[in-house]
Amino acid sequence: MSSPKRILLIVSGGIAAYKALELVRRLQDRRYRVRVVMTKAATEFVTPLSFSALTNDRVFTDLFDLDDEREIGHIRLARDHDAIVIAPATADLIAKMAGGHANDLATAILLATDKPVLVAPAMNPHMWQHQATRRNVEQLKRDGVRFIGPAEGEMAEKGEAGPGRLVEVPELVAAIESLLSTASPIEPQSLAGRHVIVTSGPTHEQIDPVRYLANRSSGKQGYELATAAARLGARVTLVSGPVTLADPAGVTVVRVTEAAEMQRAVEAALPADIAIFAAAVADWRIASPSTAKIKKNADAAPPTLVLAENADILKEIAHRKTKRPALVIGFAAETNDVLEHAKRKLKTKGADWIVANDVSPQTGIMGGDRNTVHLLTGAGIESWPDMSKADVARQLIAMAAKHLAAKRAAAE
Ligand code: CTP
Repeated sequence: MSSPKRILLIVSGGIAAYKALELVRRLQDRRYRVRVVMTKAATEFVTPLSFSALTNDRVFTDLFDLDDEREIGHIRLARDHDAIVIAPATADLIAKMAGGHANDLATAILLATDKPVLVAPAMNPHMWQHQATRRNVEQLKRDGVRFIGPAEGEMAEKGEAGPGRLVEVPELVAAIESLLSTASPIEPQSLAGRHVIVTSGPTHEQIDPVRYLANRSSGKQGYELATAAARLGARVTLVSGPVTLADPAGVTVVRVTEAAEMQRAVEAALPADIAIFAAAVADWRIASPSTAKIKKNADAAPPTLVLAENADILKEIAHRKTKRPALVIGFAAETNDVLEHAKRKLKTKGADWIVANDVSPQTGIMGGDRNTVHLLTGAGIESWPDMSKADVARQLIAMAAKHLAAKRAAAE
């Protein structure tokens, strides 16, 4: 049996600090070894003794405690764990991290660590929404730090509501587990023998032989997903709408134009172990496309385009009674209320996971090389830092490979 994973939990000051006690217990239930560091402010809310009693270990609070330096210095605390979790994380600690401060034990550890870090913020909604905090969070995401929450709701201060509450403990545990699973090395051929279908790019819906309805999807994320799956040894079928990208190495590419063709190509490629729907499929087609070019007529009103709804390929595949892939992953491209829409899509589409992103023009995601996504699974929501589309693909495919391996192990 492998040795238990070790988590360093940093608790900073705030009314939510008491929830960290519950978090320790739930992590211990899952056989994690938890060691606790508290900031000075945190000790005003919960005593170190409470954590010490739970962990059966000393709690670290002071950078200049000589005993600590002799027995276990902050560098060892920073490196001897598999992951570092900050829950709750105050605006002040986030600001210090973003600025690279190291004037107390928590910040010194965070500056010295080479391990994955997950931050669970908790603060007043005004503080969370303040430009300074927004800048700091963006900076840390660019540095590769992961965030979970904050959740929306009533605050301890009377009459205050909005984003700022520490996420609930089960959601935190799920995010920690996912952090640990993606932080560990991936087997190079972990998808050998598996078939992965990826849809990608836009679709073009014909108006007449020279005109079409389309969208701005570049296909880059889907192509990276196909590449990442092939690298892990999968047989990959990439069903791609019209894009200008070169075929990824070692991938079977089926080029299609319209949504209906994309649907037929996906059906024809079944069975598959994983199906990922990254395409921006047109929701509507022209009800009766013209076979001849529609001519301008100065004497008549402009033509009216009558639309008909396209089949929802993801939904149809996810609800199949036969040949349903073991893992069905959809995307949710949104321009507002990203998480609300994505949560609804997770339910209505029947997908196992939804990757949600904000595709408003100012994000530069559509057509760009970077992506900021939220992963919605049955276990909760993970918000990934800003990453290249290649990294998003590698991380998602690695998680999918682990998920399949765990499913297979459970079935055996
Ligand atoms: N999708 C699909 N077939 C369609 C429409 C969407 O397979 N006809 C898939 C997309 O590939 C994506 C997911 O469904 O994985 C969500 O697509 P999105 O465009 O975000 O949502 P829609 O279902 O089209 O809903 P809306 O346009 O109202 O946001």
